[in-house]
Amino acid sequence: MKSLVVANWKMNPQTFREAKQLFEATRRAAESVRSVSLVVAPPALYLRELKRAYKGRKISLAAQNAHAAGSGAYTGELSLTQVQDAGASYVLIGHAERRAAGEGNDDVRKKVAAALSTRLAPILCVGEATRSPRGEHFLYVAEQLQAGFADVLPGKANRVIVAYEPVWAIGTQKSMTPADMHEMAIFIRKTVQGKGHNGLAIKILYGGSIDERNAHDMIERGDVNGLLVGRASTEAKKFADLLEALHES
Ligand code: PGA
Repeated sequence: MKSLVVANWKMNPQTFREAKQLFEATRRAAESVRSVSLVVAPPALYLRELKRAYKGRKISLAAQNAHAAGSGAYTGELSLTQVQDAGASYVLIGHAERRAAGEGNDDVRKKVAAALSTRLAPILCVGEATRSPRGEHFLYVAEQLQAGFADVLPGKANRVIVAYEPVWAIGTQKSMTPADMHEMAIFIRKTVQGKGHNGLAIKILYGGSIDERNAHDMIERGDVNGLLVGRASTEAKKFADLLEALHES
């Protein structure tokens, strides 16, 4: 089974010229790595041009966000159909940085359901801000999952990819241990199963301070189908090393 690696460039790089260079370096690094399906999530502004410039089939594109509504008076927003038309095959929904900017579980619920009515595969991001010895973070994640899957019709759930990203591990030096991820993956599957879907069929990604040193171990022992990579995906050399590390798995 190939691992799914999603490169979340966030609000980087600053010019399209640099974006093309980074994409080209990423493409070259990905070429020899057969064990990985790669998805690049650039700023939406770059989607169409990157799609046009890239003739290969190895890399898919994702939008980092889109609005749940089909069209209308939403100044500054992009619709799911627009990002799909620009070349995206995936869309991140409810990333921690968007939740911090005010996106709630209810927005996430609508976006996941709306994405499933397009051809886009939603990547539903969940994760707690802090951990407590009593395990309250499990309840928090369950709530996010319940909202995310609330309007998902039976039979469509296996198109939803769950990205578990503990907020305390994003943008830090502190990744989660594969053992803790394994425990969380079981919990995610159980929760999705509890909503009447096939929990075992759900693809799970881990994100939060993944780099070339810990990527392999997380895939091997974390019970995940792939990784969501922020910072390390915007440094060409670091990302090439990361993909190389997965090549060996
Ligand atoms: P990071 O970000 O890899 O820089 O921790 C991950 C993410 O926010 O998706």
